[in-house]
Amino acid sequence: MAATGKGHENWSSRSAFILAAVGSAVGLGNMWRFPAEAGENGGGAFVLFYIFCVLLIGLPVLLSEVLIGRHGQANAQESVRKVARDSNASEGWGIIGSMGVFAAFLILSFYCVVGGWVVYYIGVFLGDLFQTGLSGGAFEGRDPEEIKGLMPGLFGNGGLMVGLNLGFLAITVFFVARGVSSGIEWVAVYLMPLFFLLFLAITIYGAFTGNFGEAVAYLFTFDFSKLTGEVMLAAVGQAFFSLSLGVAGMMTYGAYANRDTNLGETSGIIAGADTGVALLAGLAIFPIVFAAGLATNAGPGLMFESLPLAFQAMPLGSLIGLAFFTMVFFAALTSSVSLLEAPTAWMFEKFNLPRPVGTAIVGLGAAVLGVLSALSFNDMADFRPLAFIPIFAEANFFDALDGVTAKLFMPIGAILTCIFVGWIADAKLIDDENGLDGALHQIWRALVRYVCPIILAVILYFGLFG
Ligand code: PHE
Repeated sequence: MAATGKGHENWSSRSAFILAAVGSAVGLGNMWRFPAEAGENGGGAFVLFYIFCVLLIGLPVLLSEVLIGRHGQANAQESVRKVARDSNASEGWGIIGSMGVFAAFLILSFYCVVGGWVVYYIGVFLGDLFQTGLSGGAFEGRDPEEIKGLMPGLFGNGGLMVGLNLGFLAITVFFVARGVSSGIEWVAVYLMPLFFLLFLAITIYGAFTGNFGEAVAYLFTFDFSKLTGEVMLAAVGQAFFSLSLGVAGMMTYGAYANRDTNLGETSGIIAGADTGVALLAGLAIFPIVFAAGLATNAGPGLMFESLPLAFQAMPLGSLIGLAFFTMVFFAALTSSVSLLEAPTAWMFEKFNLPRPVGTAIVGLGAAVLGVLSALSFNDMADFRPLAFIPIFAEANFFDALDGVTAKLFMPIGAILTCIFVGWIADAKLIDDENGLDGALHQIWRALVRYVCPIILAVILYFGLFG
């Protein structure tokens, strides 16, 4: 741990910061949420608009967030306040940070539910490996219908869902309680590179065996008539979710970056890696969805229902399935760790608590909400907490948390961040931090000042009321 003199930790190297930030960005958002959202929002129009959002909105906002964090060298709320103070602006802007911290806490609570599903599939493939050994594909001799039924089977089992959720949360708490360099970094530095390789291999295999052509056509044919306000809001929400934006995550991680890290360049690497993995996930999952006749709009279960079918058909299927879900587990963990780190840093810095105590308090809160999310698929399936808001009318507790954070908190947080960085913060301070020169700096500044807040406000309006 390298101290900065304020009792505040820093990443031990430049590449460790990049890997941790990539680790935060790459997670269930790419593999689970991206394909599910693409499928529910009609494919091509969503995907292309998503890429547009990453480039024009996500990237500039990402740089704005890590920049605030690095300047502030503290939790998200305190970092925004410090930038405000150094710009002679009101500390009230700290609300961007505190709102984000709260939203990160909400996301953490349901993220760990999905993390629990990953743990379940690790168990399934481990069991299968013991049963069938290394011969042939996974689940030898079993009907594909039975494999498709694994996910609905898990959804129906409230007790198991809660147990898995709490298990995943407990592992996250363990790492965050250990601290930035000893816990979080280790996972990111050693496991993220491995994950990329395995994922690439599975996608290439899928390209040769599944309905690849149909998947490509589905994901990349742009049908303008499908681009409704709701689809656009879903795409921008997904871009933020996937890049860990609008909820203090990247501010918190930026605070651990060293002065000599070029934040402009780093943001590009993070966004590139994150978008690459999301597209890979789409290209791995949809060929199977089409080949197996699954519904594209199957929702949250899509990834978990489709991929095991591919592992059934693959040589060494049980082993590869086990390796894959283990990697997804680590990718999810590096993200859940960042989701917990944002509220934890706020908690222990603000109330001057030891880190493990702050972590435990946030963890307990997330456990309570998480139980409600886990039960949304079974015992509480009919509970519609936001029935009075049209776009969330059908949402159960889990969907409501997911929808409210991605479609309200994230875009609103991002609009405020753009206004703050583009108009309120001292231009010289921003210039010193952002690591951009010449034309690139001008473009970024124009995006943050005008393009992002305006497009976001319009999308938010039409997504909610259009
Ligand atoms: N970006 C993470 C993922 O794609 C989720 C996340 C969202 C993490 C917001 C931190 C903050 O899985």
